[in-house]
Amino acid sequence: MLNFARHRRLRHTANLRAMVRETRLHKEDLIYPIFVVEGENQKNPVQSMPGVFQVSLDLLNEEIEEVVKLGIKSVILFGIPHEKDEVGSGAYHDHGIVQRAIAQIKQQHSDLVVIADTCLCEYTDHGHCGVVENGQIVNDASLKLLAKTAVSQAKAGADIIAPSNMMDGFVAAIREALDEEGFVHIPIMSYAVKYASAFYGPFREAAESTPKFGDRKTYQMDPANRLEALREAEADVEQGCDFLIVKPALSYLDIVRDVKNHFNLPVVAYNVSGEYSMIKAAAENGWIDEKGTVLEMLTSMKRAGADLIITYHAKDVARWLDEQS
Ligand code: PBG
Ligand code: ZN
Repeated sequence: MLNFARHRRLRHTANLRAMVRETRLHKEDLIYPIFVVEGENQKNPVQSMPGVFQVSLDLLNEEIEEVVKLGIKSVILFGIPHEKDEVGSGAYHDHGIVQRAIAQIKQQHSDLVVIADTCLCEYTDHGHCGVVENGQIVNDASLKLLAKTAVSQAKAGADIIAPSNMMDGFVAAIREALDEEGFVHIPIMSYAVKYASAFYGPFREAAESTPKFGDRKTYQMDPANRLEALREAEADVEQGCDFLIVKPALSYLDIVRDVKNHFNLPVVAYNVSGEYSMIKAAAENGWIDEKGTVLEMLTSMKRAGADLIITYHAKDVARWLDEQS
């Protein structure tokens, strides 16, 4: 008798496969991004992201109702202001678009975990994530405005602050400002490892945040680098962040695993806009099976070490998980 391993013994039936499955997706893993705009009766489709809209506050309640009914526990908010200026004033206005959205959602569903993306790029006329002087993105001057933004979001009722700007020292600056204002209990979900990625293209249409000159390569990371990701994450851990985001997800699953292995904090994978648009485009053409590919991709992110996933597919995934159970 030949002696070799019989791997197929554990694959005979669906129940057996379910019993030995190592990774599972749960609704609790999902964070759903929402774009809020000024105005009334706005539900503007984002061309490059079928199924994603910019919504105005009067239509936001419906959207939130749907999210909550589906069993999603958390949303992350991006705001598109009426007016942009050099210093992104709209980002830290007490009655800015995101601040009002946060307050409204918390009033409607106090237990929904509301995460505020903390950046300036949607609010600056030049579209960069920090202050610009002589064509350069200036680090330390940007920190003050980011800290102000975080505090205004916490005042509005945000449960978690998620800074995505990639200036050096942003976690320390935001932590200090939050603590001084009495928000010691508010966690920071840091976009610690954020690459300068071509996969952000569709998001910039949705958030109207394409830089007017240059690119983001002096502050976002080089996609070729792995050790640098650990240095970035280490710095944010030292500065007191509570979650580590790796972004994008799909082309960076090795980095998700590295970050998971090196640090003892919850790891968040951001399944970004370009990853979403590729699937949608292929699925609409009938070239791939949307449900199959999405569930496989998100499962891979969890297998790589992600505890949570920020994804535009969240509502669909929640529906598919219901079908399966
Ligand atoms: C910028 C920001 C970006 C995303 C979220 N916040 C990227 C960028 O424009 O550099 C990308 C999200 C996505 O592509 O889904 N602060
Ligand atoms: Zn930004």
